[in-house]
Amino acid sequence: MSVPPAIELSHVTKRFDATVALDNVDLAIDTGAVHALLGENGAGKSTVVKLLSGLLRADSGTIRLAGEEARLGSAAAARRHGIATAFQEMTLVRDLTVAQNLLLPLEPTTLGQVSRRRSLDRTMAIFDRLEIHGIDPRDEVRDLELPLRQKLEIAKAVSRDPRILLLDEPTSTLSYDDVEWLGRIIARLHADGVTIVFITHRMREVRLYCDRLSVLRNGAHVGTYGTAEIDDDAVIQLVIGRSIASTFPPKGPDRRGTAAAPALAGKGLGGGGTLADVSFALWPGEILGVAGLQGMGQLDLFLGLFGVDPFLAGTVEIDGKPVTIASPGDAVAAHMGISLVPEDRKSEGLFLKLSGSVNVSLPVVDRFARFGLIDVEAEHAAVDRVLERLRVDPRALYTRCAAFSGGNQQKMAIGKWLLAESRILLLYDPTRGVDVGTKHEIYVLAREFAAAGGAVLFYSTEVPELVNLCDRVLVLYRGRLVDELVGDAASEAAIMRGALGGPVPALAAAE
Ligand SMILES: Nc1ncnc2c1ncn2[C@@H]1O[C@H](COP(=O)(O)OP(=O)(O)OP(=O)(O)O)[C@@H](O)[C@H]1O
Ligand SMILES: [Mg+2]
Repeated sequence: MSVPPAIELSHVTKRFDATVALDNVDLAIDTGAVHALLGENGAGKSTVVKLLSGLLRADSGTIRLAGEEARLGSAAAARRHGIATAFQEMTLVRDLTVAQNLLLPLEPTTLGQVSRRRSLDRTMAIFDRLEIHGIDPRDEVRDLELPLRQKLEIAKAVSRDPRILLLDEPTSTLSYDDVEWLGRIIARLHADGVTIVFITHRMREVRLYCDRLSVLRNGAHVGTYGTAEIDDDAVIQLVIGRSIASTFPPKGPDRRGTAAAPALAGKGLGGGGTLADVSFALWPGEILGVAGLQGMGQLDLFLGLFGVDPFLAGTVEIDGKPVTIASPGDAVAAHMGISLVPEDRKSEGLFLKLSGSVNVSLPVVDRFARFGLIDVEAEHAAVDRVLERLRVDPRALYTRCAAFSGGNQQKMAIGKWLLAESRILLLYDPTRGVDVGTKHEIYVLAREFAAAGGAVLFYSTEVPELVNLCDRVLVLYRGRLVDELVGDAASEAAIMRGALGGPVPALAAAE
């Protein structure tokens, strides 16, 4: 007799008011498989994960685990079935330490008192086992950069020794070397027979890690294949219901020196604990890439330029004139015209309790104000246009952002700054969690913005974006600029070499 699937959904439907998140879904995940779940933003992937984790209940249909009907009415019930989850919108408690989060709700106690020593020992043991270095268990989670929080969210799930591991977009925030780290963890669990559901928007990871893949579209299951049986184009076609000719728009001519002065320049910038002596020039019409592994100073650079954490050393120039950017208010001000799409949309990019429309138009709200009242119609019309470009469901206009899927939240954060009509866009990993179709839209929008004379500084954890979208790429290592790659020299190999501490600029030039 054959082994029953580890997970089997039959006729599962889940609605949120008018939205049908899952529509009569039948889906089977084989025991011991690494199974990719693909689909556009809002397709229903996280809803599947939440049903299996006991956070949501289906309106109808059944879920079987290893052939037995399972009632997953709570997180505890899911845990009893050996299911552990790394959630897309992470579940770490910001005010607790790394160790407390990792061990929740299992922290060791001695006569009711939490034993700090034992907590730390256990955490270090988990870190050793999972080859995690560079996180201090005593740090508060709020002080960790987002990629490290994501790593911790994964570690927390894996440390429960699950039989079924659900990974909801684990790689969208990880840096490239940590994606490889996760690959090693997956291989190890796979060898131990753990069943893994892996959600991603990147085909490369599906190819590297997964045996099978399923595609959801508008809440319906549209196909399951062995990864070897189907090519990327066919998968993309299934995901977005159409094909895209080329993901990246063509680059423009070299724009250096074509204006009187760079739109934005940094000279000897330092601060934020990591950044040291960074100088660069961003010309109008350019998309300038920034590459770096986790924590190499890229965040300090972006937050400094936006006035969140002002620089401690060096000067910033706009159009050749020195400026002081002491706050985000300074950065957004008309004569600066700087916008930032930040790393953590949840705490910095959006106000989740307000509607999508209010969020997108916030930076430009003055423009819609008449006699102290907001011109709601004008506001909606302008926002509509932006959301249409980004393929955000128009219902978003009237809905709280918290009810959007993860990728749609990211799209709102970008839409907001496109409306602001800034001259300088600071994009910090803007496509993370965004589906393939919309990624393409964002690349095109960034290129159009540049072609119209805007300037874009673009950090990405996806090396192919740096190679194919950017005109030049700056590589950061330990807070310093170690390489600048122009045009075709910006290959994946060259970027990785620099990011791993490769050539100093003089050597790069001599090559
Ligand atoms: N709490 C909620 N209230 C209302 N609607 C919701 C809620 N959670 C999800 N939805 C809606 O259900 C649909 C499916 O959302 P889900 O989060 O499963 O998408 P997803 O495939 O994970 O997308 P993404 O790639 O953006 O993460 C979306 O239309 C979303 O807006
Ligand atoms: Mg999701």
